Amino acid sequence: MTDIKKGLAGVVVDYTAVSKVNPETNSLLYRGYPVHELAATQPFEAVAYLLWNGELPTDAALADLRATERENRALPADVKAAIDLVPLDAHPMDEVRTAASLIGARDLAGNGSVLEAGGSVEDNLERSVRLFAVLPAIVAYGQRRRRGEEIVAPRDDLDYAANFLWMTFGEEADELVVDAFNQSMILYAEHSFNASTFTARVITSTTSDLYSAVVGAIGALKGALHGGANEAVLHIFDEIGSAENVNAWLDTALAEKRKIMGFGHRVYKRGDSRVPTMKAALDALVEHYDRPEVAALYDTLESEFVSRKGIYPNLDYPSGPAYNLIGFDTLTFTPLFVAARVTGWTAHIMEQAAANALIRPLSEYNGPDERHIEGYVVDA
Ligand code: ACO
Repeated sequence: MTDIKKGLAGVVVDYTAVSKVNPETNSLLYRGYPVHELAATQPFEAVAYLLWNGELPTDAALADLRATERENRALPADVKAAIDLVPLDAHPMDEVRTAASLIGARDLAGNGSVLEAGGSVEDNLERSVRLFAVLPAIVAYGQRRRRGEEIVAPRDDLDYAANFLWMTFGEEADELVVDAFNQSMILYAEHSFNASTFTARVITSTTSDLYSAVVGAIGALKGALHGGANEAVLHIFDEIGSAENVNAWLDTALAEKRKIMGFGHRVYKRGDSRVPTMKAALDALVEHYDRPEVAALYDTLESEFVSRKGIYPNLDYPSGPAYNLIGFDTLTFTPLFVAARVTGWTAHIMEQAAANALIRPLSEYNGPDERHIEGYVVDA
């Protein structure tokens, strides 16, 4: 009997030096650094640099990256026009996927045959920085146009996280809010061979280009079992309403065998390493906005679900309500995940390209036995 590993569960498919997830100790390292230390001390730009280059930047390297990021932050007019073609009631992830695809087509125009599609290490590093730089404008404009608001131009005097919030809301965010948002970007940046990163590596393994790999990854991230869960957490919060309703709501949800979004993880079975840091950021936001009822609902649902099922929250559980408090629309949450994870995806794309082997697993056929088209006569 063939031993089939459904969902590739437990299968180790390659080496990676980008990050290490250790479910035994509930820890996550980016290039050797614990993620909570990075979240407490670094701007997201420095973590992006670390993921791409293997080391934290010197002051000069960070200044260089920030200068390039600023040069590429504005939404190009044709990409804006393409976004405007996406129906307003389409999911924002479709809008982000479309925009990323157009950016790739513009950037690779004139590049010749598929044999050159993959690009050099330098090409791919530049492409990664450009995508990282422009995604906030795409996400911010998406939210604004759904609200019937005009696009807001980037501000050169603000760093990545503060500028992202500026372009979304058209006003400068408080330092505490910028810090919480920056931490969320760092926590979402990378997580080894998750479904979207693996998708990007599969596409890269065919020697396709970085943009195609990112577009595929965006598609994988959209699903509610992966990135879509941060949006789904807010739908659940809206359904429950307040802490007093948690028990009755859970009775029904579990009787209906519903998945409780924001809980459970394929790798972590005793808690997600990123949750304590994001929960602390959420607590700070709850206090800042004076919204204790959000913390009450959060804590009650967590303690009830953990005590009934022994399944712990994942990063999407605290980040959903945190993004809601900051003012992002629920449908914008997964695009925010894209803006963060593009750093991890592109680090993996470059790692895959540097030591490539076509990813092509096998399957065990369980369809009909061989049969033939009626009347078809094989030529003698
Ligand atoms: N709610 C209810 N039951 C759950 C949940 C949940 N959130 N998660 C797991 N279970 C149950 C399953 O129903 C299953 O029970 P059974 O054995 O009685 O059938 C058992 O726990 C094992 O679950 P699987 O889904 O088989 O485990 P897997 O490793 O494939 O799942 C996954 C991981 C997909 C993340 C799952 O926990 C889930 O669907 N969670 C909700 C979606 C979510 O929050 N995704 C975000 C992932 S993290 C991220 O992207 C940042």
